[in-house]
Amino acid sequence: MSSTKMIPATLIPGDGVGPEITEATLAALAALNAPFEWDHQVAGMGGVTACGDPLPPACVESIRKHGLALKGPLETPIGGGYRSSNVRLREEFKLYANLRPALTIIPGGRYDKIDLVMVRENNEGLYMGYEHFIPIDGDPHAVGMSTGINTRQGCRRIVRFAFEYAVAHGRKKVTVVHKANIMKALTGIFLETAREIHEAEYKDKVIMDEIIVDACAMKLVMNPWQFDVLVTTNLFGDILSDEIAGLVGGLGMAPGANIGEKAAIFEAVHGSAPDIAGKGIANPIALMLAAAMMLDHVGLPEKATRLRRDIDLVLNTDNIRTGDLGGKATTKEFTAALVKRLSA
Ligand code: NAI
Repeated sequence: MSSTKMIPATLIPGDGVGPEITEATLAALAALNAPFEWDHQVAGMGGVTACGDPLPPACVESIRKHGLALKGPLETPIGGGYRSSNVRLREEFKLYANLRPALTIIPGGRYDKIDLVMVRENNEGLYMGYEHFIPIDGDPHAVGMSTGINTRQGCRRIVRFAFEYAVAHGRKKVTVVHKANIMKALTGIFLETAREIHEAEYKDKVIMDEIIVDACAMKLVMNPWQFDVLVTTNLFGDILSDEIAGLVGGLGMAPGANIGEKAAIFEAVHGSAPDIAGKGIANPIALMLAAAMMLDHVGLPEKATRLRRDIDLVLNTDNIRTGDLGGKATTKEFTAALVKRLSA
């Protein structure tokens, strides 16, 4: 009998391609003998179908109990009065840091040797959803308004997280991405706080520089190698992390971790991909790499490294790739090749 201590964690397969990539990821984790004990829950459209709630209380309770979750993408119906389950989860568990690494695994692409980390503030900014319409002359949507909020406390927390991450992982530079020239309050407070924290606590440990978000977007496609760790507010982080995913082969390669003081939820950056759902062709690597981040998080870095190494071998030595990476393999074929490597 194995003496490995089991680690309880919530599992939410999610919507669209979610169940397909979750099944693939579970197969990889099983081949690795990863000691997770899954508490299966539903959310998103799965939650609406099961019990009329995109974030059922049982799912919330499960994450509260275990403090650890692996989550597939959750579909947010446009309109219809539903708030995003992802945003609700981030609020409920104060998952203030969204960590999105982008690392080249397949060499020789348009961009090679990319190794960037995006740290996105996850609880504040324009994502708070303080929105309303003002009706004028019978047009109920004549004016649309949104209020963003960034707090000193929230800015301190996320910039410290980014600096700590950089120091702990031997990174050289943290770039603070902002729009303080125009949004002087909303993102001015973010830049001001980053400068203060860097000067007071990190100036001897890591370099900090600053860049305006539009220039950052341009420089990321002109010369991404000049960046190392980037830290920014919620909406800018959302947009730039998809851009960064594009540098390493697209959304199928981009994992993310939502980290707070009492819980951590690991997921792919991508959504439910309704255009390919059910076709068996989704790339499961983003969720698998999220599972690798989860293994690191629970103190099993050898298993995380093995998973990343064998994904690399399947892609580059076995040459088995899904369609988004220019290959012909189905999700199941890629997974079978990976399980074979992991079981060797
Ligand atoms: P999406 O990320 O689902 O898809 C964008 C494009 O990338 C599509 O062409 C899709 O086929 C492709 N793609 C995504 N994942 C892929 C994979 N694993 N393998 C191969 N190709 C892949 O973005 P979209 O279409 O804007 O959103 C669809 C739904 O997902 C929406 O309801 C949205 O709210 C939700 N969503 C959920 C997220 C989450 O749960 N973390 C994140 C982003 C969106």
